[in-house]
Amino acid sequence: MNLPAIETVTVALGERSYLVSIGSGLLADHALWRDSLRGKHVLVMSNTTVAPLYLDHVAKGLEGLSWSSLLLEDGEAHKSFANIGVALDALAKLGATRDACIIALGGGVIGDMAGFTAACWMRGIDFIQMPTTLLAMVDSSVGGKTGVNLPAGKNLVGAFHQPRAVFADIDTLITLPDREYRAGLAEVVKGAAIGDEPFFHWLEHNADRLAARDSATLLEAIARKVRYKAGVVARDETEQGERALLNLGHTFGHALETAGHYTTLLHGEGVAVGMLLAAQLSERLGMSEPADTTRLQALLHMLGLPTAIPAGMDPHQLLALMRLDKKNTAGSLRLILWHGIGRAEIVSGVDEAAVLATLEAAIAR
Ligand code: NAD
Ligand code: GLY
Repeated sequence: MNLPAIETVTVALGERSYLVSIGSGLLADHALWRDSLRGKHVLVMSNTTVAPLYLDHVAKGLEGLSWSSLLLEDGEAHKSFANIGVALDALAKLGATRDACIIALGGGVIGDMAGFTAACWMRGIDFIQMPTTLLAMVDSSVGGKTGVNLPAGKNLVGAFHQPRAVFADIDTLITLPDREYRAGLAEVVKGAAIGDEPFFHWLEHNADRLAARDSATLLEAIARKVRYKAGVVARDETEQGERALLNLGHTFGHALETAGHYTTLLHGEGVAVGMLLAAQLSERLGMSEPADTTRLQALLHMLGLPTAIPAGMDPHQLLALMRLDKKNTAGSLRLILWHGIGRAEIVSGVDEAAVLATLEAAIAR
């Protein structure tokens, strides 16, 4: 079987432009990524799940450099300020100079923390993303949002700091658990649903192959989603406008994640249900057609994603949680809604009664 080729996408940000390379065998292709290292010092940040699987591939490419690895415990709970301190101490121990580089080897948790550490050390050094989850490949490794959680809330502290390069080796997805893989597919669907109708159509036709992790189909899906996101980031790096559309389904999704104490639904699963709720609300408000909602629901279903609010959740509690969202202005719900597939819009002052009715209608029975 022929291996699929490498796809590359440029994130065009002037002097800070960078390439996202997506393909098979990239971690072991040292010649490909070693050129992105400018200095002698490298800190590889990973976790105790990913490192035993893939750190060796990266280590072999670092011969001759002064490098060390920092392996954090696995999980969102460890995306903490305390661990940024640990990472900064590791850089100090390495004697890292301003041309040092951090390599993020892992999912979005590691990528966000490595990026934030890189933004802080000596007021900003390079970092390279080597994402190993589908979610990180199609979303978190691209665009330069970095940060950590506080006890008061998720991602409350952070910085925009773009990576120097992204190398997404799709072979690493072989070991990704099924549920995590499907959660990543939700982020692929999201890009198409927001702003790329032809891509949505393509996903409908390739859903079976994607669900089966066919590598050529996967490569194309990742590249198309990254190309879409790169365009948005290039036009609106710091989310003054258009980039906020990337949060389709997030206000509903975060409320669902919080109501489930972050154990009932993965982030991508919350986004899947949240996108459908946003579509159902848009339809209720007369912004979109029932056929659009049906298509979205069918695609999510084909990809094995949840489409209903988990049984037992309280719609009034969910609405209260949605009122806490960062996008809201005082006393007014601000949501990403849509006019059908590929046409999303930020809407302020959304009618709460319509939101409540949408939530009530979507609870699993
Ligand atoms: P994650 O990093 O926790 O990874 C999910 C699980 O998969 C973890 O247990 C991890 O150890 C494991 N794993 C990773 N790669 C693996 C592999 N190849 N094989 C086997 N197991 C593997 O979660 P995630 O879904 O990748 O990322 C979620 C995080 O990303 C959240 O913290 C979220 O806030 C953040 N995020 C950031 C952005 C952004 O723009 N910066 C966007 C979306 C999400
Ligand atoms: N995940 C949303 C963004 O990068 O803006």
